[in-house]
Amino acid sequence: MKTVRLGADELAPAIEALARGELVAFPTETVYGLGAHGLKASAVSRIFAVKGRPQDNPLILHVLDQEGLERLASPGGVNRWALSLTEAFWPGPLTVVVPAASEVPREVTAGLTTVAVRAPSHPIARALIAGIAAPIAAPSANLSGRPSPTAFSAAWEDLAGRVPYIIDGGRCEVGVESTVVDCTTSPVTILRPGGISVEMVASVVGEVQFPRPGGPARSPGMKYRHYAPQKELIWLVAADSGSLAQARRGVLSPYGRAAVIAPDGVSVPEGWPAYSLGPDEASAARELFEAIRQMDQTDADVIVVMWASERGLGRAVANRLEKAASMKVVL
Ligand code: TXA
Ligand code: MG
Repeated sequence: MKTVRLGADELAPAIEALARGELVAFPTETVYGLGAHGLKASAVSRIFAVKGRPQDNPLILHVLDQEGLERLASPGGVNRWALSLTEAFWPGPLTVVVPAASEVPREVTAGLTTVAVRAPSHPIARALIAGIAAPIAAPSANLSGRPSPTAFSAAWEDLAGRVPYIIDGGRCEVGVESTVVDCTTSPVTILRPGGISVEMVASVVGEVQFPRPGGPARSPGMKYRHYAPQKELIWLVAADSGSLAQARRGVLSPYGRAAVIAPDGVSVPEGWPAYSLGPDEASAARELFEAIRQMDQTDADVIVVMWASERGLGRAVANRLEKAASMKVVL
């Protein structure tokens, strides 16, 4: 299939394609999404085929606002937690899980009785939803198992030849996916940390809980390997030059050169490729996936990511590294 790049001001062909049941990759403020008309079962099925996504991993429906959420939830399904969280953080990087209305295709929910819904803030995403006057089902626009795309080039790398249109919106502002909050439990359950920090969610609903480790996979996506580059990725839970030097004498000694992804201020050995995660948690979230993709393309033997913070968006960064790393080393 020939894939056409569309600019931000040429959305008409993308809207027509979505309305016809075809797929379009588009930018959101978190990551690029691979979108389909969310109420057409056959369109939604194509997402799984194109990504190579396991059928039992449900999708997020993207809407404009709380009214869009109400239409996808069962009557009375939008409880006070779903209301107050969406009031506080929509449009933005927050997904709420609520009991599903009967019109939601089972291809979206993967047979669950709940549905995940998010209102993105990105103007291109919003124009597409408004353009088809229906929710858009969209996972991240990567091939299954690969790092999520946070730049047009990354979405193109994975999906060119597989979808008719990819819309170029430049880099994504947040850079990690939305925070997924199951509002059907008491207290609410944070299924995936993301662009809205745990502290921010707790400031609205008070108490929060997390899925029990080792318990049943509450969010089917949690059981799969994710975000992995081709090279081996070692996560060093540290953020200083001394720790890198120590790792070089120890865990990194069997390797030749490493490509190092680290916050500002870590000094990297001469001749090693490096990518900075910037000064803080927000910049690290924005850069992480792009850093992994770019360092994967260097001639280094291994990728090393240095990251230690769990504050704010640091928690989402740590969560993605937990899933992407083949080895985690606490220094
Ligand atoms: O920021 C984002 O959320 C991006 C952009 C494109 O909006 N989308 C995204 O979608 O990250 P995806 O498919 O990569 O991740 C959706 C996550 C998965 O972990 C999935 O298991 C979970 O949401 N999920 C979807 N529906 C669910 C449901 N009914 N109950 C529990 N978890 C659900
Ligand atoms: Mg994904």
